[in-house]
Amino acid sequence: MWHRRYHVTTFGCQMNAHDSERIKGMLEELGLGEAAVPEDADVIVFNTCTIREKPDQRFAAHMGEAAARKRERPDTVIAVGGCYAEAQRERLFELYPQVDVAFGPGTIPHLGEWLGAGGFGVERGRFGTGDERRFAGTLPMHRERRFQAWVQISMGCNSRCAYCIVPTVRGREVSRRPGEILAEVERLAGEGVREITLLGQNVNSYGRDVGSGFAELLRACDAVDGIERIRFTSPHPKDFRAPVIEAMAECATVCEHAHLPLQSGSTRILKAMRRTYGRERYFELVGDLRDAIPDLALTTDIIVGFPGETDVDFGETIEVVEEVGFDGAFTFVYSPRATTEAAAMPDQVPEDVKRDRIERLVEVVQRVARERNEQRVGLVEEVLVEGPSRHGDGLLRGRTRRNITVNFAGTASPGELVAVRIDGATSTTLRGEQLSAAAAWSG
Ligand code: 5AD
Ligand code: SF4
Repeated sequence: MWHRRYHVTTFGCQMNAHDSERIKGMLEELGLGEAAVPEDADVIVFNTCTIREKPDQRFAAHMGEAAARKRERPDTVIAVGGCYAEAQRERLFELYPQVDVAFGPGTIPHLGEWLGAGGFGVERGRFGTGDERRFAGTLPMHRERRFQAWVQISMGCNSRCAYCIVPTVRGREVSRRPGEILAEVERLAGEGVREITLLGQNVNSYGRDVGSGFAELLRACDAVDGIERIRFTSPHPKDFRAPVIEAMAECATVCEHAHLPLQSGSTRILKAMRRTYGRERYFELVGDLRDAIPDLALTTDIIVGFPGETDVDFGETIEVVEEVGFDGAFTFVYSPRATTEAAAMPDQVPEDVKRDRIERLVEVVQRVARERNEQRVGLVEEVLVEGPSRHGDGLLRGRTRRNITVNFAGTASPGELVAVRIDGATSTTLRGEQLSAAAAWSG
């Protein structure tokens, strides 16, 4: 029998990647199989992002191809979900007439209804309403890897960072109930998951609305049998308090890594960004974290060219990168987003200045990260094996507890924890050799 197929293209952050797993799971429940490429699919889904202009442009290019496909095969269903869809909900069908169904983040549980529950009685031009945001925790999930899983703990964000469109598109923060989260973690552990990543726009403000807290949640997840590694992303420095640091230090399964978005090293710019911490508070927090967890890896997000940023402000960002010694950083050129406070600020920084700054920043970030990785040479690291290395060189690939990718010679299978002696480093990866099975990691 002819089998209908779907394809999902995902843009943006880990929250979106996780939402896409739910979308795939739902489509599979409706009886569709996954197509390797959109050309072979009957239902083509785009899970979009709008954090900067670049993902908007990439999506526009994909829409061009989708329109061509629809001309060839008019019964192809094109569905657009996620943050760009939400931000453009008033205009989406005008901008892209080839779109059949659109829906915002947090509305995935309704996807089946919009797709005519698999019968494709699609009501064209309908925007799935975002008013009934729900956790997708009970939905089927199509996971990329059997032994790793994302677990959503909250949705939305109550911060008002001046550059950021996320609060507008993902709404106010709502925490998922701890019992529901734990039930999911237990179920995942039972299915063989060894590493979980707790996901929220601001994990450190988790729980205020459900009488719980992030530290308690970390401890409860740590107690689940079978879970060997716990990660989380992203914490906001303003809400990172002592109980969470203590829980990180005391829970054996919580990995020695924090992704701590800095955004800028200038207190003046941080204030204009409405980050509600300054450079000194950030240093203090890093100090407290490192006192409690000496081997901690720190990664960050940095924006250059925020309105009003001077050479002096930018120089302060470089200083913080050097002084903190980040193990990695995502670096962004500031991109004005409609409806945000910063888009209307005077003193927008010219493009060439932004370009120049990001190049200089990337250079420093890479040098610092390489130096940090070089310090690992000679050490033995616990590596969770993910599969073959991306270079087709016969090596395996995995990640250390500090979240650094390691390419190594060895014989282990995906999902195994092994001991690897590190013998080389770049700014983003380590190299090494697996120790003999007898010396393999015992936990
Ligand atoms: N321009 C550039 N970078 C941005 N980010 C968020 N909004 C913008 C914007 N308008 C960055 C921040 C955030 C990361 C996910 O994206 O650094 O932490
Ligand atoms: Fe994720 Fe933000 Fe992009 Fe939405 S806009 S997908 S929350 S990065």
